Amino acid sequence: MQLRPKMIRHCRHFPMLLDVPDKCGGASQSAEVFLLLVIKSSPVNYDRREVLRKTWAEEREQNGVWIRRLFISGTMDSGKEKERLNKLLELEHSEHNDILQWNFSDTFYNLTLKQILFLEWMERNCPNARFLLNGDDDVFANTDNMVQYLQGLEDNDGSKHLFTGQLNVGMVPVRSWSKYFVPVQVHEADEFLPYCSGGGFLLSGYTAMVIYNMSQSITLLPIDDAYMGMCLSKAGLEPSNHVGVRAAGLDTSSNNIDRHDPCVHKELLLVHKFPTSHLYLLWNRIHDPKLKCFVSTKL
Ligand SMILES: *[C@@H]1O[C@H](CO)[C@@H](O)[C@H](O)[C@H]1NC(C)=O
Ligand SMILES: *[C@@H]1O[C@H](CO)[C@@H](O)[C@H](O)[C@H]1NC(C)=O
Ligand SMILES: *[C@@H]1O[C@H](CO)[C@@H](O)[C@H](O)[C@H]1NC(C)=O
Repeated sequence: MQLRPKMIRHCRHFPMLLDVPDKCGGASQSAEVFLLLVIKSSPVNYDRREVLRKTWAEEREQNGVWIRRLFISGTMDSGKEKERLNKLLELEHSEHNDILQWNFSDTFYNLTLKQILFLEWMERNCPNARFLLNGDDDVFANTDNMVQYLQGLEDNDGSKHLFTGQLNVGMVPVRSWSKYFVPVQVHEADEFLPYCSGGGFLLSGYTAMVIYNMSQSITLLPIDDAYMGMCLSKAGLEPSNHVGVRAAGLDTSSNNIDRHDPCVHKELLLVHKFPTSHLYLLWNRIHDPKLKCFVSTKL
């Protein structure tokens, strides 16, 4: 690992184009936010954001506590198309007040940068949020279950360590050309430290701030979820596995699991990759009072 903090710090600052400084009611009130949904979304994904706003990411009081929502975004394309997409975000933002946008190019390799810019924002505007869901805009997150799970944690109101999701241990950096390519110069070790899949993981506000602190002295690795693992490790903390998080999607080959069956999703916390139309239907079906699930699908 090469550490070149000066240069990295220099590359980490990008002006905000859209902000919601009062999302958590101000830094001092932010402990009122129980679950902050932090959703990575590229400007072009308008339809995903729209569906999320009226399904699992709806801002609401759930079981007596508050859920708040933020989409985090950069810019994309160039020229007129970039301007159009920026205008789109601006319009959505004026209606929903739920977008943080920075002036950097929203690419896969810049995801880590996006995460760190968010944490910097959080330290400033929402340092005491109890818990966060950090994930992609194409997941199905059962936020009702998440609140229940988090409320059931013994001895942790967000002020202690929590980082859980689909745990990856012993993952090997991809050394050949692909989306996930990581050159030796960027990450020397043959294995990544344990981390949770970036599709969606839950963490406490405390752990988010620890990660932010650690990130100050760790070179940005472009694979954002693996980078989180490096920050945790440096702080002497470990990510954990939660069986309810299926960040790689559901394994539908065994047990005759139907991924569109609402009963399957009633008990899970998060499943990766859903077309928006399915997500909309599924969220409504699991809330149908007439839905009857006979067999427990908890695995
Ligand atoms: C955003 O960045 C571009 C260069 O990538 C620059 O031309 C533009 O002025 C910046 N806009 C703002 C508002 O900072
Ligand atoms: C990350 O964003 C910066 C600023 O917009 C841009 O110059 C750079 O090319 C992006 N990096 C990647 C790998 O896309
Ligand atoms: C992060 O660092 C700041 C400044 O050094 C410190 O005040 C704060 O307690 C740290 N937060 C955590 C959660 O470690």
